[in-house]
Amino acid sequence: MSAEIIDGKMVAELLRNRVKEDVQQWCDKGNRPPYLQVILVGDDPASIVYTGTKTKACQQVGIQTETMVLQDTISEKELTQIIQSCNSNDKIDGILVQMPLPSHLSQHTVIETIDHRKDVDGFHPMNVGRLSLDQPCFKSCTPAGVMELLKYYSIPVKSQYAVVVGASNIVGSPMAVMLSRENSFGKATTTICHKYTRNLTAHTISADILIVAAGQPNLIKAEMVKQGVVIIDIGINRIADETHEKGYRLVGDVDFESVRKKASWITPVPGGVGPMTVAMLMKNTLLAAKKSLYPK
Ligand code: GUN
Repeated sequence: MSAEIIDGKMVAELLRNRVKEDVQQWCDKGNRPPYLQVILVGDDPASIVYTGTKTKACQQVGIQTETMVLQDTISEKELTQIIQSCNSNDKIDGILVQMPLPSHLSQHTVIETIDHRKDVDGFHPMNVGRLSLDQPCFKSCTPAGVMELLKYYSIPVKSQYAVVVGASNIVGSPMAVMLSRENSFGKATTTICHKYTRNLTAHTISADILIVAAGQPNLIKAEMVKQGVVIIDIGINRIADETHEKGYRLVGDVDFESVRKKASWITPVPGGVGPMTVAMLMKNTLLAAKKSLYPK
């Protein structure tokens, strides 16, 4: 047996095309195009690639965007002042501060400074709190993209046993909340595993749906999963490889070649979850422009 491939690249393109049509309709009604302000602090190579991909997607769907590049020596006060001026600028619909931040900056302080009505990443405590309460909110793009993939492929979630490996604020935690809560979708029985989990395999082996966001190449091997499992690999790890033009290749957190033989469905890396994150960001930015979630 070999798993069916979950084609995130294709589904993301469908979603982006839908957003593009909606943006066009929004503008046809006399509204200005949505505007996303991206803030990049420092010169982390992966962050530069990610913000570049986001800019390209904005251009493709008709969302206006600008990336403000700030020195990694910027103080917290200076950065929060910049964010506050974006909050009060009516021409800006969405604000995205690319993570990670340099270590002298508090991620919590920075995120809490963003107006939750412009928090298209869904990282602000207001949005995280409303997500846990099953209330309308901006949803973190990567886990929201995973839910869209499961929906697109009609993969059952309700009452399934879902295991999330990785408990980050950005991905693992909201992923577990979406799988277990979600108004119309979700309702899975969900476990979160993390670096303090004693026997990881004891959990992963029982999973009907295994979602991995640990940032560890090849963490999940065939002997850790059961036959027929659905595998969602959120990991994006750079492995040095001189045979590749860029000097590295991307691998996920799952040993794809061995695990695909046991799984029923699997996401590849690249081309799985990654493109969905960007598509969901486009959707959130349009929602922010329309003030659909927070009318006032
Ligand atoms: N760093 C890694 N993923 C993300 C994301 O979805 N949003 C932001 N702002 N930073 C990230």
